[in-house]
Amino acid sequence: EKDLGADLASVLIPEGRLQDKIQELAAKVDADYAGQELLLVGVLKGAVMVMADLARALHSPVSMDWMAVSSYGSGTKSSGVVRILKDLDADIMGRHVLIVEDIVDSGLTLSWLVSNLRSRGPASLEICALLRKPDAIKTDIDVKYIGFDIPNEFVIGYGLDYAERYRNLPFVGTLAPHVYGGTTEPTAGEQQD
Ligand code: PRP
Ligand code: MN
Ligand code: MG
Repeated sequence: EKDLGADLASVLIPEGRLQDKIQELAAKVDADYAGQELLLVGVLKGAVMVMADLARALHSPVSMDWMAVSSYGSGTKSSGVVRILKDLDADIMGRHVLIVEDIVDSGLTLSWLVSNLRSRGPASLEICALLRKPDAIKTDIDVKYIGFDIPNEFVIGYGLDYAERYRNLPFVGTLAPHVYGGTTEPTAGEQQD
């Protein structure tokens, strides 16, 4: 057990439940793609853990590629304006693409990414996200593979950061409000920064 001091408010999803869910999602993906070649597109940096574990749980032949995206400025995430910091290495035209994400919060990152990638002419385009928050329901994105619906709390671990920390925790936890200076909740729409 890692010593987190008082930074961790609670363990929301323990490591065992995460790993069980990843196996479950992988089994669904394998069944749906039935041995077709699949391109997993991970969204840096939050998706690294779920990408690594999902890829290893799959039996389908996979390639992995990565994108890094950022919303413009700070506090403008709700505008949905996203810029590409690192694009895919490969052309996805005619490929079966599965976007792998750690969390759908407002859903704006993914809705932008889906329209961007769709314009490149993939044979198919689906999303796998480990976590989804209630606000994501407001955006019209179809997440085919979802791990857990979680409450609107500030979550860290298993790829998810607060100020670039805590990504390496093997479980998903909630952050104690004193760490981010809040008394109840972080600023809406910026919870995963
Ligand atoms: C986080 C998270 C998702 C996105 C979800 O990434 O990993 O990619 O925010 O938020 P949304 O649904 O409101 O768009 P972040 O921008 O913090 O970058 P990171 O993955 O490098 O932590
Ligand atoms: Mn991210
Ligand atoms: Mg982040």
